Amino acid sequence: MKAYLDNNATTRTDPEVVEAMKRYFLDTYANASSMHSFGQAARKGVEEARERVAALLNCTPEEIIFTSGGTESDNQAVRGVVEKYAKKGNHIITSAIEHPAVLESCVHIDERGGDVSYISTDSEGIIKLEDLEAAITEKTILITVMLANNESGVIQPVKEIAGIANGKDIILHTDAVQAIGKIPVDVQELGVDLLSLSAHKFHGPNGAGALFIRKGTRVASLMHGGSHERGIRAGTLNVPGIAGLGKAAEIAVRDLDRNRQKVSALRDRLEKNLTSRLKYTRVNGHREKRLPNTTNISFEFVEGEGIMLSADLKGVAVSTGSACASGKLEASHVLLDMGLSHALAQGAIRFSLSKDTTEKEIDYAADVIAEAVEKLRGMSPLYEDALKGGACETAG
Ligand SMILES: Cc1ncc(COP(=O)(O)O)c(C=O)c1O
Repeated sequence: MKAYLDNNATTRTDPEVVEAMKRYFLDTYANASSMHSFGQAARKGVEEARERVAALLNCTPEEIIFTSGGTESDNQAVRGVVEKYAKKGNHIITSAIEHPAVLESCVHIDERGGDVSYISTDSEGIIKLEDLEAAITEKTILITVMLANNESGVIQPVKEIAGIANGKDIILHTDAVQAIGKIPVDVQELGVDLLSLSAHKFHGPNGAGALFIRKGTRVASLMHGGSHERGIRAGTLNVPGIAGLGKAAEIAVRDLDRNRQKVSALRDRLEKNLTSRLKYTRVNGHREKRLPNTTNISFEFVEGEGIMLSADLKGVAVSTGSACASGKLEASHVLLDMGLSHALAQGAIRFSLSKDTTEKEIDYAADVIAEAVEKLRGMSPLYEDALKGGACETAG
Protein backbone atom coordinates (compact mmCIF):
# COMPACT_ATOMS: atom_id res chain seq x y z
CA MET A 1 0.00 0.00 0.00
CA LYS A 2 1.14 3.52 -0.77
CA ALA A 3 -0.15 6.97 0.12
CA TYR A 4 1.13 10.15 -1.49
CA LEU A 5 0.28 13.02 0.88
CA ASP A 6 2.70 15.64 -0.42
CA ASN A 7 0.49 17.37 -2.96
CA ASN A 8 1.54 20.87 -1.89
CA ALA A 9 4.97 19.94 -3.27
CA THR A 10 3.54 18.70 -6.55
CA THR A 11 0.48 16.86 -7.84
CA ARG A 12 -0.09 13.99 -10.26
CA THR A 13 -0.73 15.33 -13.75
CA ASP A 14 -4.39 14.77 -14.62
CA PRO A 15 -4.74 12.23 -17.46
CA GLU A 16 -7.06 14.71 -19.24
CA VAL A 17 -4.21 17.23 -19.08
CA VAL A 18 -1.69 14.75 -20.49
CA GLU A 19 -4.14 13.99 -23.30
CA ALA A 20 -4.58 17.71 -24.07
CA MET A 21 -0.80 18.22 -24.19
CA LYS A 22 -0.01 15.28 -26.45
CA ARG A 23 -0.87 16.86 -29.78
CA TYR A 24 1.43 19.82 -29.08
CA PHE A 25 4.40 17.43 -28.87
CA LEU A 26 3.49 15.19 -31.77
CA ASP A 27 1.47 17.19 -34.32
CA THR A 28 1.08 20.87 -33.54
CA TYR A 29 4.71 21.35 -32.53
CA ALA A 30 5.69 24.46 -34.50
CA ASN A 31 6.94 27.64 -32.84
CA ALA A 32 3.89 29.64 -31.72
CA SER A 33 5.58 32.85 -32.94
CA SER A 34 6.02 31.60 -36.52
CA MET A 35 3.85 33.24 -39.16
CA HIS A 36 3.13 30.08 -41.16
CA SER A 37 0.00 28.06 -40.60
CA PHE A 38 1.89 25.44 -38.53
CA GLY A 39 2.94 28.18 -36.13
CA GLN A 40 -0.52 29.70 -36.12
CA ALA A 41 -2.05 26.35 -35.10
CA ALA A 42 0.26 26.29 -32.07
CA ARG A 43 -0.59 29.94 -31.39
CA LYS A 44 -4.27 29.01 -31.34
CA GLY A 45 -3.54 26.46 -28.58
CA VAL A 46 -1.71 29.13 -26.57
CA GLU A 47 -4.55 31.64 -26.90
CA GLU A 48 -7.16 29.04 -25.93
CA ALA A 49 -5.12 28.30 -22.81
CA ARG A 50 -4.91 32.02 -22.05
CA GLU A 51 -8.70 32.24 -22.22
CA ARG A 52 -9.05 29.31 -19.85
CA VAL A 53 -6.65 30.79 -17.30
CA ALA A 54 -8.46 34.14 -17.59
CA ALA A 55 -11.79 32.38 -16.96
CA LEU A 56 -10.29 30.69 -13.89
CA LEU A 57 -9.24 34.04 -12.42
CA ASN A 58 -12.10 36.20 -13.79
CA CYS A 59 -9.90 38.56 -15.81
CA THR A 60 -9.32 39.23 -19.52
CA PRO A 61 -6.90 37.05 -21.54
CA GLU A 62 -4.75 40.15 -22.22
CA GLU A 63 -4.05 40.32 -18.49
CA ILE A 64 -2.32 36.90 -18.45
CA ILE A 65 1.31 36.21 -19.32
CA PHE A 66 2.77 32.71 -19.31
CA THR A 67 5.90 31.87 -17.31
CA SER A 68 7.86 28.79 -16.30
CA GLY A 69 6.04 28.45 -12.96
CA GLY A 70 5.40 29.99 -9.57
CA THR A 71 8.98 30.98 -8.87
CA GLU A 72 9.29 32.95 -12.09
CA SER A 73 5.86 34.57 -11.67
CA ASP A 74 6.78 35.71 -8.15
CA ASN A 75 10.18 37.06 -9.25
CA GLN A 76 8.60 38.80 -12.23
CA ALA A 77 5.91 40.41 -10.11
CA VAL A 78 8.07 41.58 -7.22
CA ARG A 79 11.26 42.54 -9.01
CA GLY A 80 9.37 43.79 -12.06
CA VAL A 81 7.31 46.26 -10.01
CA VAL A 82 10.26 47.43 -7.92
CA GLU A 83 12.30 48.20 -11.03
CA LYS A 84 9.42 49.90 -12.87
CA TYR A 85 8.29 52.11 -9.99
CA ALA A 86 11.76 52.92 -8.62
CA LYS A 87 11.21 56.66 -9.12
CA LYS A 88 8.07 56.56 -6.97
CA GLY A 89 9.60 54.75 -4.00
CA ASN A 90 11.74 51.86 -2.78
CA HIS A 91 9.68 50.38 0.04
CA ILE A 92 7.87 47.07 -0.15
CA ILE A 93 5.86 45.15 2.42
CA THR A 94 5.60 41.39 2.60
CA SER A 95 4.80 38.74 5.18
CA ALA A 96 7.35 36.76 7.16
CA ILE A 97 5.77 33.48 5.95
CA GLU A 98 6.11 33.83 2.18
CA HIS A 99 7.54 31.10 -0.02
CA PRO A 100 11.28 31.56 -0.78
CA ALA A 101 10.31 32.64 -4.33
CA VAL A 102 8.97 35.88 -2.79
CA LEU A 103 11.21 36.09 0.29
CA GLU A 104 14.44 35.70 -1.67
CA SER A 105 13.23 38.20 -4.29
CA CYS A 106 12.76 40.61 -1.38
CA VAL A 107 16.25 39.86 -0.03
CA HIS A 108 17.61 40.56 -3.52
CA ILE A 109 15.85 43.93 -3.49
CA ASP A 110 16.95 44.68 0.07
CA GLU A 111 20.59 44.09 -0.89
CA ARG A 112 20.30 46.56 -3.77
CA GLY A 113 19.07 49.62 -1.95
CA GLY A 114 15.45 48.61 -1.44
CA ASP A 115 13.68 48.70 1.88
CA VAL A 116 11.56 45.69 2.89
CA SER A 117 9.19 45.30 5.85
CA TYR A 118 8.37 41.73 6.88
CA ILE A 119 5.05 41.49 8.72
CA SER A 120 4.51 38.67 11.20
CA THR A 121 1.47 36.47 11.69
CA ASP A 122 -0.56 35.82 14.82
CA SER A 123 -0.64 32.50 16.69
CA GLU A 124 -3.04 31.10 14.08
CA GLY A 125 -0.79 31.98 11.18
CA ILE A 126 -2.73 34.99 9.88
CA ILE A 127 -0.88 38.19 8.98
CA LYS A 128 -1.39 41.03 11.46
CA LEU A 129 -3.28 43.61 9.42
CA GLU A 130 -2.71 46.44 11.91
CA ASP A 131 1.07 45.90 11.63
CA LEU A 132 0.83 45.87 7.84
CA GLU A 133 -1.11 49.14 7.79
CA ALA A 134 1.31 50.74 10.24
CA ALA A 135 4.28 49.75 8.04
CA ILE A 136 3.03 51.76 5.03
CA THR A 137 5.06 54.86 4.21
CA GLU A 138 5.02 57.42 1.39
CA LYS A 139 7.67 55.33 -0.33
CA THR A 140 5.67 52.08 -0.30
CA ILE A 141 5.15 50.90 -3.87
CA LEU A 142 4.27 47.24 -3.41
CA ILE A 143 2.61 44.87 -0.95
CA THR A 144 3.10 41.17 -1.64
CA VAL A 145 1.25 38.70 0.58
CA MET A 146 0.42 35.09 -0.32
CA LEU A 147 -3.17 33.93 -0.60
CA ALA A 148 -2.58 30.58 1.11
CA ASN A 149 0.49 29.31 2.88
CA ASN A 150 2.18 26.22 1.51
CA GLU A 151 3.10 24.76 4.92
CA SER A 152 0.10 25.53 7.14
CA GLY A 153 -2.52 26.01 4.42
CA VAL A 154 -3.70 29.15 6.26
CA ILE A 155 -5.57 31.60 4.02
CA GLN A 156 -4.49 35.23 4.28
CA PRO A 157 -6.86 38.24 4.29
CA VAL A 158 -5.80 39.46 0.84
CA LYS A 159 -9.12 41.19 0.13
CA GLU A 160 -8.77 43.26 3.31
CA ILE A 161 -5.18 44.10 2.34
CA ALA A 162 -6.49 45.30 -1.05
CA GLY A 163 -8.80 47.67 0.80
CA ILE A 164 -5.77 49.12 2.60
CA ALA A 165 -3.49 49.21 -0.47
CA ASN A 166 -5.84 50.49 -3.15
CA GLY A 167 -6.80 53.62 -1.26
CA LYS A 168 -3.10 54.50 -1.04
CA ASP A 169 -2.04 53.86 -4.63
CA ILE A 170 0.09 50.84 -3.72
CA ILE A 171 0.36 47.84 -6.02
CA LEU A 172 -0.77 44.53 -4.53
CA HIS A 173 0.63 41.15 -5.55
CA THR A 174 -0.48 37.79 -4.22
CA ASP A 175 1.17 34.42 -4.60
CA ALA A 176 -1.86 32.19 -5.19
CA VAL A 177 0.21 29.13 -6.12
CA GLN A 178 -1.28 26.97 -3.33
CA ALA A 179 -4.81 28.36 -3.55
CA ILE A 180 -5.67 27.56 -7.17
CA GLY A 181 -7.87 24.49 -7.58
CA LYS A 182 -8.50 24.35 -3.82
CA ILE A 183 -10.54 27.50 -3.12
CA PRO A 184 -12.23 30.04 -5.44
CA VAL A 185 -9.74 32.64 -6.67
CA ASP A 186 -11.22 35.72 -8.35
CA VAL A 187 -8.94 38.69 -8.99
CA GLN A 188 -11.88 41.14 -9.05
CA GLU A 189 -13.15 39.86 -5.71
CA LEU A 190 -9.63 39.92 -4.21
CA GLY A 191 -8.77 43.34 -5.66
CA VAL A 192 -5.18 42.38 -6.47
CA ASP A 193 -3.06 43.89 -9.27
CA LEU A 194 -0.80 40.88 -9.77
CA LEU A 195 -1.29 37.19 -9.03
CA SER A 196 1.04 34.20 -9.47
CA LEU A 197 0.02 30.63 -10.20
CA SER A 198 1.78 27.39 -11.09
CA ALA A 199 0.33 24.49 -13.12
CA HIS A 200 1.96 21.58 -11.28
CA LYS A 201 0.25 22.49 -8.01
CA PHE A 202 -3.17 21.78 -9.50
CA HIS A 203 -2.66 18.70 -11.65
CA GLY A 204 -1.04 20.50 -14.56
CA PRO A 205 2.50 19.93 -15.84
CA ASN A 206 5.76 21.06 -14.24
CA GLY A 207 7.46 24.10 -15.72
CA ALA A 208 4.35 26.09 -16.64
CA GLY A 209 2.83 29.01 -14.78
CA ALA A 210 1.16 32.34 -15.28
CA LEU A 211 1.13 35.86 -13.93
CA PHE A 212 -2.01 38.00 -13.89
CA ILE A 213 -1.10 41.64 -14.51
CA ARG A 214 -4.05 43.99 -14.14
CA LYS A 215 -4.51 46.36 -17.08
CA GLY A 216 -2.66 49.57 -16.23
CA THR A 217 -0.14 47.93 -13.88
CA ARG A 218 3.36 48.05 -15.32
CA VAL A 219 6.25 45.68 -14.69
CA ALA A 220 9.84 45.79 -15.95
CA SER A 221 10.91 42.74 -17.90
CA LEU A 222 13.32 40.28 -16.26
CA MET A 223 13.92 38.21 -19.37
CA HIS A 224 15.32 40.09 -22.36
CA GLY A 225 15.10 38.83 -25.92
CA GLY A 226 12.22 38.54 -28.36
CA SER A 227 8.91 40.32 -27.98
CA HIS A 228 6.97 37.33 -26.63
CA GLU A 229 4.23 37.81 -24.05
CA ARG A 230 3.75 41.53 -24.73
CA GLY A 231 7.49 42.11 -24.47
CA ILE A 232 7.48 41.19 -20.79
CA ARG A 233 8.71 37.60 -21.00
CA ALA A 234 11.05 36.78 -23.86
CA GLY A 235 11.58 33.18 -24.91
CA THR A 236 9.94 30.58 -27.16
CA LEU A 237 6.62 29.61 -25.67
CA ASN A 238 6.31 26.22 -23.97
CA VAL A 239 3.22 25.31 -25.99
CA PRO A 240 2.57 21.81 -24.54
CA GLY A 241 3.05 23.14 -21.00
CA ILE A 242 0.79 26.12 -21.66
CA ALA A 243 -1.90 23.88 -23.19
CA GLY A 244 -1.62 21.62 -20.12
CA LEU A 245 -1.95 24.62 -17.82
CA GLY A 246 -5.05 25.73 -19.73
CA LYS A 247 -6.64 22.29 -19.43
CA ALA A 248 -5.78 22.09 -15.71
CA ALA A 249 -7.40 25.53 -15.25
CA GLU A 250 -10.55 24.36 -17.00
CA ILE A 251 -10.75 21.23 -14.82
CA ALA A 252 -10.07 23.27 -11.67
CA VAL A 253 -13.11 25.44 -12.39
CA ARG A 254 -15.29 22.48 -13.37
CA ASP A 255 -14.47 20.26 -10.36
CA LEU A 256 -13.71 22.78 -7.60
CA ASP A 257 -16.78 22.27 -5.41
CA ARG A 258 -16.78 18.50 -5.62
CA ASN A 259 -13.06 18.18 -4.91
CA ARG A 260 -13.12 20.68 -2.06
CA GLN A 261 -15.76 18.74 -0.17
CA LYS A 262 -14.21 15.36 -0.77
CA VAL A 263 -10.70 16.45 0.15
CA SER A 264 -11.63 18.36 3.30
CA ALA A 265 -13.64 15.37 4.60
CA LEU A 266 -10.56 13.15 4.11
CA ARG A 267 -8.27 15.74 5.69
CA ASP A 268 -10.56 15.94 8.75
CA ARG A 269 -10.67 12.14 8.99
CA LEU A 270 -6.87 11.99 9.03
CA GLU A 271 -6.59 14.78 11.58
CA LYS A 272 -9.19 13.21 13.89
CA ASN A 273 -7.61 9.81 13.63
CA LEU A 274 -4.13 11.07 14.54
CA THR A 275 -5.08 13.55 17.26
CA SER A 276 -7.41 11.11 19.00
CA ARG A 277 -4.88 8.28 18.92
CA LEU A 278 -1.78 10.21 19.87
CA LYS A 279 -1.31 12.41 22.91
CA TYR A 280 0.83 15.56 22.82
CA THR A 281 -0.11 16.72 19.33
CA ARG A 282 -0.99 20.17 18.03
CA VAL A 283 -2.72 21.13 14.78
CA ASN A 284 -0.92 24.26 13.59
CA GLY A 285 -2.72 27.25 12.09
CA HIS A 286 -6.30 28.49 11.91
CA ARG A 287 -8.73 25.56 11.84
CA GLU A 288 -11.27 27.15 9.48
CA LYS A 289 -9.34 29.73 7.44
CA ARG A 290 -7.21 27.17 5.68
CA LEU A 291 -7.02 25.15 2.49
CA PRO A 292 -9.26 22.06 2.42
CA ASN A 293 -6.36 19.73 1.54
CA THR A 294 -3.74 20.69 4.15
CA THR A 295 -3.11 19.89 7.79
CA ASN A 296 0.07 20.64 9.67
CA ILE A 297 0.51 18.69 12.89
CA SER A 298 3.28 18.87 15.52
CA PHE A 299 4.09 15.67 17.37
CA GLU A 300 5.84 16.66 20.57
CA PHE A 301 9.05 14.87 21.64
CA VAL A 302 9.94 13.68 18.12
CA GLU A 303 11.62 15.16 15.07
CA GLY A 304 9.48 15.51 11.95
CA GLU A 305 12.40 14.24 9.93
CA GLY A 306 12.36 10.92 11.77
CA ILE A 307 8.62 10.51 11.19
CA MET A 308 8.94 11.40 7.52
CA LEU A 309 11.75 8.91 6.93
CA SER A 310 9.97 6.07 8.80
CA ALA A 311 6.76 6.78 6.86
CA ASP A 312 8.66 6.76 3.59
CA LEU A 313 9.90 3.24 4.31
CA LYS A 314 6.25 2.18 4.50
CA GLY A 315 5.25 3.98 1.29
CA VAL A 316 3.75 7.12 2.82
CA ALA A 317 4.96 10.48 1.48
CA VAL A 318 4.62 13.54 3.74
CA SER A 319 6.84 16.54 4.35
CA THR A 320 8.34 18.15 7.42
CA GLY A 321 8.24 21.56 9.03
CA SER A 322 11.97 21.88 8.64
CA ALA A 323 14.19 22.67 5.73
CA CYS A 324 17.74 21.56 5.19
CA ALA A 325 19.75 24.77 4.98
CA SER A 326 23.55 24.59 4.69
CA GLY A 327 23.66 21.03 5.93
CA LYS A 328 21.67 21.52 9.11
CA LEU A 329 18.00 21.19 9.86
CA GLU A 330 16.29 24.51 10.38
CA ALA A 331 12.83 24.80 11.84
CA SER A 332 10.17 26.20 9.51
CA HIS A 333 10.08 30.00 9.36
CA VAL A 334 6.29 29.75 8.98
CA LEU A 335 5.76 27.82 12.20
CA LEU A 336 8.30 29.86 14.18
CA ASP A 337 6.60 33.07 13.06
CA MET A 338 3.33 31.66 14.40
CA GLY A 339 5.04 31.46 17.78
CA LEU A 340 5.83 27.74 17.93
CA SER A 341 8.92 26.68 19.87
CA HIS A 342 11.80 25.20 17.89
CA ALA A 343 10.94 21.77 19.31
CA LEU A 344 7.32 21.89 18.17
CA ALA A 345 8.25 23.33 14.78
CA GLN A 346 10.79 20.57 14.28
CA GLY A 347 8.21 17.98 15.26
CA ALA A 348 5.80 19.15 12.57
CA ILE A 349 4.53 17.16 9.61
CA ARG A 350 2.62 18.61 6.66
CA PHE A 351 0.00 16.35 5.15
CA SER A 352 -1.31 17.63 1.81
CA LEU A 353 -4.05 15.70 0.02
CA SER A 354 -5.48 15.92 -3.48
CA LYS A 355 -8.52 14.85 -5.45
CA ASP A 356 -6.69 11.56 -6.08
CA THR A 357 -6.42 10.70 -2.35
CA THR A 358 -8.62 7.83 -1.11
CA GLU A 359 -10.08 6.90 2.28
CA LYS A 360 -8.00 3.71 2.32
CA GLU A 361 -4.82 5.73 1.81
CA ILE A 362 -5.76 8.09 4.63
CA ASP A 363 -6.38 5.24 7.07
CA TYR A 364 -3.19 3.50 6.04
CA ALA A 365 -1.18 6.73 6.42
CA ALA A 366 -2.67 7.36 9.87
CA ASP A 367 -1.62 3.85 11.00
CA VAL A 368 1.88 4.30 9.64
CA ILE A 369 2.36 7.75 11.18
CA ALA A 370 0.94 6.73 14.56
CA GLU A 371 3.23 3.72 14.66
CA ALA A 372 6.27 5.82 13.71
CA VAL A 373 5.52 8.47 16.34
CA GLU A 374 5.01 5.87 19.07
CA LYS A 375 8.23 4.09 18.15
CA LEU A 376 10.26 7.31 18.10
CA ARG A 377 8.72 8.50 21.35
CA GLY A 378 9.65 5.18 22.92
CA MET A 379 13.29 6.18 22.38
CA SER A 380 12.91 9.73 23.72
CA PRO A 381 14.01 10.50 27.32
CA LEU A 382 11.91 13.71 27.22
CA TYR A 383 8.81 11.69 26.49
CA GLU A 384 9.60 9.37 29.39
CA ASP A 385 9.83 12.43 31.66
CA ALA A 386 6.50 13.76 30.37
CA LEU A 387 4.83 10.45 31.18
CA LYS A 388 6.12 10.82 34.74
CA GLY A 389 4.50 14.27 34.91
CA GLY A 390 7.36 16.37 33.45
CA ALA A 391 7.02 19.43 31.25
CA CYS A 392 5.23 19.34 27.91
CA GLU A 393 4.00 22.05 25.56
CA THR A 394 0.88 20.46 24.12
CA ALA A 395 -2.23 19.26 25.86
CA GLY A 396 -1.81 15.57 26.66
C1 LIG B 1 3.37 29.33 -2.20
C2 LIG B 1 4.32 28.94 -3.29
N1 LIG B 1 4.83 29.87 -4.10
C3 LIG B 1 5.68 29.57 -5.09
C4 LIG B 1 6.09 28.28 -5.32
C5 LIG B 1 7.04 27.97 -6.43
O1 LIG B 1 6.35 27.42 -7.51
P1 LIG B 1 7.13 26.59 -8.67
O2 LIG B 1 7.46 25.26 -8.07
O3 LIG B 1 6.14 26.48 -9.77
O4 LIG B 1 8.33 27.37 -9.05
C6 LIG B 1 5.60 27.25 -4.47
C7 LIG B 1 6.07 25.86 -4.64
O5 LIG B 1 6.27 25.14 -3.67
C8 LIG B 1 4.69 27.59 -3.44
O6 LIG B 1 4.19 26.67 -2.61
